[in-house]
Amino acid sequence: MSIAADVTRNPFTQIESPAVGVTVEHLSKSFGTFEVLKDVSFAVKPGEIFVLMGPSGSGKSVLLKHIVGLELPTSGKVTVDRRDATEETTREHVRMALVFQAGALFNSMTVYDNLALYPREHRIGTEAEIKEKVMHALQILSLENASQKFPSDLSGGMKKRVAIARALVMEPQLMLYDEPTSELDPVMGATISEIIATLKDEYHVTSIVVSHDRDLALAIADRVGILMGGKLVFLGTPAELQAPKDPRIADFLNPKIDLKKPRFKRLET
Ligand SMILES: Nc1ncnc2c1ncn2[C@@H]1O[C@H](COP(=O)(O)OP(=O)(O)O)[C@@H](O)[C@H]1O
Ligand SMILES: [Mg+2]
Repeated sequence: MSIAADVTRNPFTQIESPAVGVTVEHLSKSFGTFEVLKDVSFAVKPGEIFVLMGPSGSGKSVLLKHIVGLELPTSGKVTVDRRDATEETTREHVRMALVFQAGALFNSMTVYDNLALYPREHRIGTEAEIKEKVMHALQILSLENASQKFPSDLSGGMKKRVAIARALVMEPQLMLYDEPTSELDPVMGATISEIIATLKDEYHVTSIVVSHDRDLALAIADRVGILMGGKLVFLGTPAELQAPKDPRIADFLNPKIDLKKPRFKRLET
């Protein structure tokens, strides 16, 4: 069955609902006198994979937190499905899931219970129905054998996959990932990229992926944004990224290694 790109399909029930878009409009954010985001504007279309890149400390995680309403803009506005992201009702209207950088799993619970937590708390279905969803999500992420393990028993790559599986159980229309492939070996990184692409192709989930990973961006992004020093310095397609005109972007994507550069001052004795 093929469906139009403007609806998302629930991976568990196959129920279709509208795909959601995100807009970031003249967003600025300061912590005290430190301005982290400076007049950032872009729009993510329904069903699109948008990859947000940029050096460490450029404001990528802070930007994601505005989309899920965990941070409030100093000025400007963020909307999800045309609703203000700061409103509690937006999160009731749109199912969105943020996969945190560190996974943020509950260490005292098994993998199964970590995944079942959200549907249990929100009383979504009977225990048998929850089990079906949890096991299906684990299967999608090739984690069937890990359901009774604790997070401390898992490798970094497995924890990331569990975090994605847990987000999937929330049946998201919008998935946000914070550095999903960092700390993973290249093969596992590629697997995560494939999962993100599958969620788009099969279920039309809108995805915003924060990553340093240039290969991931080129492989799965519909469009890419680059933040530097809190400003959006690039917005375009992966193809446009292959020959960037801005030297700052070229240096960021293809850093030159200069072994001759003096790094340590000789100590005067
Ligand atoms: N709650 C906060 N209070 C003060 N400064 C913060 C806070 N959150 C982030 N910052 C600062 O904002 C900048 C951008 O952070 P972040 O968005 O985490 O960067 P990254 O692009 O690496 O994800 C950093 O200098 C960080 O120290
Ligand atoms: Mg970050």
